[in-house]
This record gives sequence, C-alpha cells and structure tokens, in this order.
Amino acid sequence: MAIISSSFCILISSLALLSTVGEGYGDEETRKGGEVKKVLFVFGDSYADTGNLPTSVSRSWKSPYGITFPGKPSGRFSDGRVLTDYIASFLGIRSPFPYRRLKNLNTNTIRYGINFAHGGTGVFQTLQVDQPNMTAQIDFFQQLVDKNVYRSEELSSSIALVSLAGNDYSTYLARHGSFQGLPELKRSVIEQLVLNVRRIKDFEIKKIAITGIEPLGCLPRNSAASSYRNCNAEENNFSQSHNILLQQHIWALNYETAAPVFKYLDLYDAFISALKIDQKSPGNLTDKLKPCCGGAKGEDA
Ligand SMILES: *[C@@H]1O[C@H](CO)[C@@H](O)[C@H](O)[C@H]1NC(C)=O
Ligand SMILES: *[C@@H]1O[C@H](CO)[C@@H](O)[C@H](O)[C@H]1NC(C)=O
Ligand SMILES: *[C@@H]1O[C@H](CO)[C@@H](O)[C@H](O)[C@H]1NC(C)=O
Repeated sequence: MAIISSSFCILISSLALLSTVGEGYGDEETRKGGEVKKVLFVFGDSYADTGNLPTSVSRSWKSPYGITFPGKPSGRFSDGRVLTDYIASFLGIRSPFPYRRLKNLNTNTIRYGINFAHGGTGVFQTLQVDQPNMTAQIDFFQQLVDKNVYRSEELSSSIALVSLAGNDYSTYLARHGSFQGLPELKRSVIEQLVLNVRRIKDFEIKKIAITGIEPLGCLPRNSAASSYRNCNAEENNFSQSHNILLQQHIWALNYETAAPVFKYLDLYDAFISALKIDQKSPGNLTDKLKPCCGGAKGEDA
C-alpha cells in the first residue's frame, strides 16, 4: 500500500507538534470565560486518520498498530495516537469520530467534529485509487454543511486540521521511479492544496492548521539503502523545498484575510528534533530509523 507511515514517526511528530499547535489555538475562548464548544474537522491522510479505511483492506486494523493506544488495532497507522488525537486532546475534546464509522448523525457522535482523513490519500489520486482524495473528503463535509448538520456559530468556532504527508509524491515515485518530475509535481500539489484549504475557509472556519511534510528521507523505505544509518539527503531536501513553498502560500493566504486563518504545522523540525538528528554530522542513526516491526521496505512499519 502506498501509505507513508511509520508508527514511531507519527508518535514523536505528534508529541513535538503539540507546542506548535498551541499558539493562538483554543485559548481565547477560555480566557473570555465563555462556553464555546470546540469542534475539530480533519482532512488528509494516515497521519490524521483514526479509522476511516475499511477493515477488509487496511493493515491499520491489524497488529502491531494500536498496541500502545488504544491497546489494540483501531484503524490508525500508528502504534498509538495520531496527530488528530493529540490536537483534540489539546483542545480538551475527544478525538472526532471517523466519518466512515458514523452510523448516524446524532449530536453525540458528531459533537466534537468529524474526521474525514483517509490513510494513503493525497490531493490527487494516489495508488489507493478507491479512497477519497482530499477534494472528495471536503465534498463529504460540504454535504453535511448543506444539510445544516452544524450551525454557523459552530462552524465559525471550529478548527480544521489538514494533513498532507506525501502520498502524492510516493505515488509518483512508485510510478516513475525517478525524481525528475517532482519539482513540477510539487507546484501542482501545493496549488491543489491551496484550493482545498480555501474551500475549507469558505465554510467560515477561522483556524485551519496545515501540516508541512516530514523529512521523507528519514522514513524507513528511504533510509533502508543506508541500512537505516542515514536519512536520504536528497529527499529531505525535497521535503524542505515543499515546506518553503507551502509556507509562502500560507503567508499569502493569511495576507488576504483580516485575521490570520492558516497555520503551518512544522512536521519537519518535529521529526528532526525528536530523532535528535544533528544535521551537520548525522552519525549512526540505525536505532532511530529502523522500522519497528518488519515491513519489507518499511511501508507498514
Ligand atoms: C479526486 O477524486 C475524484 C473522484 O475520484 C476525481 O474525479 C477528481 O479528479 C480527484 N481530484 C483531484 C484534484 O485529483
Ligand atoms: C538541496 O537543494 C539545493 C537547492 O534547492 C541544492 O543546491 C543542493 O545541492 C541540494 N542538496 C542535496 C543534498 O540534494
Ligand atoms: C550502528 O548502530 C547499530 C546499532 O547500535 C550497530 O549494530 C551498527 O553496527 C552501527 N553501525 C556503524 C557503522 O557504526
């Protein structure tokens, strides 16, 4: 499966991200003393998915996923929590229900928001063609908004998390086997991502957090060539260039709005600091970069 995911990666990145997400999020309401219910809507991939993939097709429903939390496989591509869970916890709410697991729309199941993220997806069609890309995920949300499932006050006090960890790129590499077209693809990916987040903003959501891309060269599939001793410098470089372009676009988007709506979540530095990689002398990283539990090239590690 074309799922960029590694259990330890998700765990550490999520932990390190907490402080970043904290700035400016969620505190204002509490300070005002008002009882504003917080709602979280989530779009994206396996870094945020909490169980949208069908049990019949996804390894995320098999051990060792879920062994540290919730104690058994739960459809998360992690041994424990994913980004969504940490952000929900920071907001003081329960992790929103995965869209596909909603049996009905009763107020209890959707009161903390809805998670539309599907592991393996990107902004474009990825190798997992049968899973909804980000556009389709936003369409699901649109349908609910059109049905007035959420009141406009709820929407305007809600937060969106948009996770894009690189499945568009891994799909390209799997199809073409070379880096050649990546710079061009990067521009299209970010253009499409910008269209997507604009759409989310049009629901009057006032805070939208968008992930940068993690250091792709440190994922097991890419560090395998060095026997997990080093992150692949070229791929890390690519991640950085994606992130620079993304941040420029986020800056431009915020420039259009009276108050900044969009927030960049720095997965790259979160990984680097959690792995304690000294970028100048990387040394022997074998223990940190090895997949925890098999998976030939680390896809399912
Ligand atoms: C998203 O998926 C839909 C349905 O498969 C497809 O028609 C559409 O072109 C895709 N969007 C993008 C931006 O690739
Ligand atoms: C990283 O990218 C810069 C320019 O974008 C280039 O000059 C440099 O050689 C690249 N380094 C590696 C290791 O690919
Ligand atoms: C790197 O560390 C691993 C695990 O500690 C060890 O097995 C391996 O021999 C080391 N490799 C080098 C080149 O030092």
